[in-house]
Amino acid sequence: MNQKILFVCLGNICRSPAAEGVFSAMVEQKDFVIDSAGTSGFHSGDKADPRMIQHAKQRGIELTSRSRKFVQEDLDLFDHILVMDDKNLQDVLKMANSEQSKKVKKITDYCTRLKYNHVPDPYYGGAQGFDLVLDILDDACKGFLKSLQQ
Ligand code: 4NP
Repeated sequence: MNQKILFVCLGNICRSPAAEGVFSAMVEQKDFVIDSAGTSGFHSGDKADPRMIQHAKQRGIELTSRSRKFVQEDLDLFDHILVMDDKNLQDVLKMANSEQSKKVKKITDYCTRLKYNHVPDPYYGGAQGFDLVLDILDDACKGFLKSLQQ
């Protein structure tokens, strides 16, 4: 299994870097290319939000990514593109042809334990929001990994 997985959110400083970190911690690195991107370029070049870094660190997950904008070529390069919410889905699908569209899924489609239909944006909220993001991503990434192994 050598699969290329891209996680996408709006700013690429909170949810998708966290997804990249959570999934990376779950798998053998040699089996995957794992990256994340944002549909906006607002934070291009920035490290993940310090609050997201801190909350991930408390779970033993290190976030090292730098924000970058999602680009057209990502739709060819990656095998699976996992977005965080409906707006991300809409923005990515706008750039995709019908074949590429099949690679794009909301990550919460893979949740098995928690009942969320998107990963809520924690940017303007408090600490609880960052923990919730990590809880949802843990559940969703486990479900996604299981789907790849089936
Ligand atoms: P993310 O969160 O999409 O999970 O990285 C956000 C980060 C920044 C902004 C919005 C959402 N912003 O508007 O700057």
